[in-house]
Amino acid sequence: MQISFVAPADVTAKSEGGGAWVVGAVEGGTLLPAAARADKASGGALTRALKFSRFTGKAGQMLEVLAPAGVPASRLLLAGLGKAESLDEKGLETLGAQIAGRLYGAGESAASLEIDVPKNAKVKKAELAAHLAFGAKLKSYAFDKYRTRNLDEYVKKLKSVRIVTPDVASAKKAHAGLDAVAGGIFFARDLVNEPPNVLYPAEFARRAKAQLSRLGVKVEILGEAEMKKQGFGALLGVGQGSARESQLVVMQWNGAKKSAKPFALVGKGVCFDSGGLSIKVGAGMQGMKGDMAGAACVVGTLQALASRKARVNVVGVIGLVENMPDGGAFRPDDVLTSLSGQTIEVLNTDAEGRLVLADALTYTQRRFKPKALIDLATLTGAIVQTLGFEHAGIFSNDEELVRRVQSAGRTTGERVWQLPLDPFYDKMIRSKIADMKNIGGANSGAITAAQFLQRFIEKGTVWAHLDIAGVAWQDGEQKPTIPSWGTGWGVRLLNRLMKENYEN
Ligand code: BES
Ligand code: MN
Ligand code: ZN
Repeated sequence: MQISFVAPADVTAKSEGGGAWVVGAVEGGTLLPAAARADKASGGALTRALKFSRFTGKAGQMLEVLAPAGVPASRLLLAGLGKAESLDEKGLETLGAQIAGRLYGAGESAASLEIDVPKNAKVKKAELAAHLAFGAKLKSYAFDKYRTRNLDEYVKKLKSVRIVTPDVASAKKAHAGLDAVAGGIFFARDLVNEPPNVLYPAEFARRAKAQLSRLGVKVEILGEAEMKKQGFGALLGVGQGSARESQLVVMQWNGAKKSAKPFALVGKGVCFDSGGLSIKVGAGMQGMKGDMAGAACVVGTLQALASRKARVNVVGVIGLVENMPDGGAFRPDDVLTSLSGQTIEVLNTDAEGRLVLADALTYTQRRFKPKALIDLATLTGAIVQTLGFEHAGIFSNDEELVRRVQSAGRTTGERVWQLPLDPFYDKMIRSKIADMKNIGGANSGAITAAQFLQRFIEKGTVWAHLDIAGVAWQDGEQKPTIPSWGTGWGVRLLNRLMKENYEN
């Protein structure tokens, strides 16, 4: 999708030619200035249409007039902005996506969005333009590479979106940062959507390296021989029943001065989770290609940060494995020795994500001494039962970090909800023969998983764990800015977290 910003003075009746002319109204139905102009130019087409509709200007409402007389546009689309005072960047993104969605449905190929900042709104002109564009862009995402028939049904015709704004330079600047984020989100979505016969650990690593090194990110890939030498017993245990080689990918973006300690992001990258010998039932195994969404989020975030040259040092570490059952697979009852030296009694091979993360966490802390560390993982079904699809779970040893993530979550719409860590839950993972076991009891499964991870957090590390099993993918099309399946959840959140707190 081609997005451009133009000043109102540059829009002449001629340059308008064809395409949709999208204008706005606030709640109550008051037409904003461009809408009033469109109405006048079309001989009152909008006011006439308003009389025959339920349109009241509520956020997301649309009113359409086709082939209006007197203006060169193919259609007038009046979009409801809701209450001026409640307009925020999240709402604007949603609106941009809703407008794009509507135009996709109509088969429109070009559009001019001319939506004024209403009186009493808190958003600036440039911000409004940039976030509308960002929302429209997010809506343009599609994963159609494996469709070979009836492509007409899927093709998105809307190719060019022109945003009319009085402050072109600022809008372009604000949009450049957001477009970098959109790129990161799309990359993360692609990785999550890609089927597991195509995207196995080495292929994931290859794509991450190809994409990120072009942007100036330093990327290293460790294979099984190297990890074995270093003692990654937990991660390698998970991958040992797979025909595909396990990988660890280390990515460094250095946008700040060399001496500044990095912020660390660690991701679970289980390219397919069959459960291993503790094999999942059929329905529970579907979708487990997405069990690398934490790793995809880390890669997507690094892409966003590097694309917009963020002045921050961030290291990403992802553990990539495939959890499969074969004659060489790890077993329930096995004891693994992790990179930290702690031993783990495996009682269920389907609790594999925490094993992969354990070694990735140890490696990251020992090598980089990060100023703070966030891990992301589609770790437990229990978090889906607890929080559903609206919030990721956050567990942390640092309240200030939680507050910062919550705040970034509220502005971006990628929200988190805090759940407890407590010595009581830690007792639930005591093993009869080793330092710990890899499952707790029947209850509080998301918490015991977090307690397990905490055992690998070294003294002094500021840490938060995000369990994203409920938010990393979705089946229906439920939210305007999110397509079916891989959501790219977390890229927006982490980008914002860095911007608000760690960049200089
Ligand atoms: N990848 C799954 C968690 C998951 C479940 C993600 C549903 C997305 C949707 C994880 O590896 C897993 O299998 N967890 C088990 C842990 C249990 C065996 C202690 C679970 O949640 O059932
Ligand atoms: Mn599992
Ligand atoms: Zn898993």
